Amino acid sequence: MDGFRKGQNEEMSHESTGNLFSPGLEGVPVTHSAICDIDGLKGSLTYRGYPVAELAAHSTFLETTYLLIWGQLPTPQQLRDFEGEVQMHRRVSFRVRDMLKCFPATGHPMDALQASAASLGLFYSRRAIDNPQYVYDAVVRLIAKIPTMVAAFQLIRKGQDPIQPRDDLAYSDNFLYMLTDREVDPLAARILDRCLILHAEHSLNASTFSARVTASTLTDPYAVVASAVGTLAGPLHGGANEDVLLMLEEIGNPDCAGVFLDKAISSKRKIMGFGHREYRVKDPRASILQGLAEELFARFGKDHMYEVAKSLENEAESRLGPKGIFPNVDFYSGLVYRKLGIPRDLFTPVFAISRVAGWLAHWREQLGANRIFRPSQIYTGPEPRSWTPPEERIEPLDS
Ligand code: ACO
Repeated sequence: MDGFRKGQNEEMSHESTGNLFSPGLEGVPVTHSAICDIDGLKGSLTYRGYPVAELAAHSTFLETTYLLIWGQLPTPQQLRDFEGEVQMHRRVSFRVRDMLKCFPATGHPMDALQASAASLGLFYSRRAIDNPQYVYDAVVRLIAKIPTMVAAFQLIRKGQDPIQPRDDLAYSDNFLYMLTDREVDPLAARILDRCLILHAEHSLNASTFSARVTASTLTDPYAVVASAVGTLAGPLHGGANEDVLLMLEEIGNPDCAGVFLDKAISSKRKIMGFGHREYRVKDPRASILQGLAEELFARFGKDHMYEVAKSLENEAESRLGPKGIFPNVDFYSGLVYRKLGIPRDLFTPVFAISRVAGWLAHWREQLGANRIFRPSQIYTGPEPRSWTPPEERIEPLDS
């Protein structure tokens, strides 16, 4: 530690700024926001004041998107216009499709999505973010084209040509159609639409913070969404839904859940799909998703992994519950997507299709009262020192 100023600098930083260092920014407000409210003790979640359970029961994903981005539920005419615009912009340029064809089929679809979302910025002017028409058009394009790009990469990597969106199909029906190239069951499409509502927004999570930081530089919305997609991909965030299924498969049998948990906890392994920075109770979205999973199983047949999941949740209650660790949104969503025929590595891209609504709501809000994000740090590096010629350098003893 010789020559390093860790403790000293940390103290100075506290003294000079009066601010406390909070790893992961836990409990540090970094913006005002009127989009979403979470009560982590009661397990409640509202979008623009509406309980998410009500929206999931009665709204559609596009109506909820409109609500999140423009702050009010649309009138019937506003909704028809918005749905019509989104429908008109679902197609993507042949250049985007050709680009997707150049990506390795073995690459992760989240990486393909991040690159293709960023590529949209090449097609549309980036200097008009203060023009309301540009903002509206960008929202429409991103909401419309992201599902098309996710579905296109899925078909391309299977060696097929992407299929064009169908104008007679609603948003989620069309996505499932483009993904599977088959007629879509209306119940399956409605359940997917409800999943999209549930994932659309969740205040200042990591990817939304990422979106706001990027937005605060006044870059274009395609870069904002691309940076958020990259952040969502990680296993501690949206990527957990994939890992939950891997974990359930590893457990394999409901009777093995307790032993698995004991081993995992004693080796400090995280239980995927459990825990949340905000909630100290079961995530309200997890309860609704569990209900959706049961609706699907009743119609299309059971999934053995659901029994494993329920047993894990049961066993975890006594072991993790006292620490406020319960299932989060990612715990049951993978089981729903699997029953809908969505491949495991598309679970997070499907999450992204939905969360783009929240990111764009935060993009608009950030632009409305912008100040570039530029936090400070507590420097822990060496004291100032001089460059030395290579022949005079000595290998440090501890290297
Ligand atoms: N399994 C076991 N223990 C856990 C879990 C878990 N899933 N989550 C938290 N803990 C424990 C930690 O080990 C730690 O215990 P300790 O104090 O004894 O060391 C304590 O709870 C605090 O955990 P942190 O990781 O510091 O909590 P944080 O608020 O930083 O992290 C997070 C929240 C990342 C969601 C965490 O709970 C986690 O890693 N969960 C698993 C991954 C996951 O499901 N992510 C999806 C979250 S939802 C979403 O992003 C869409």
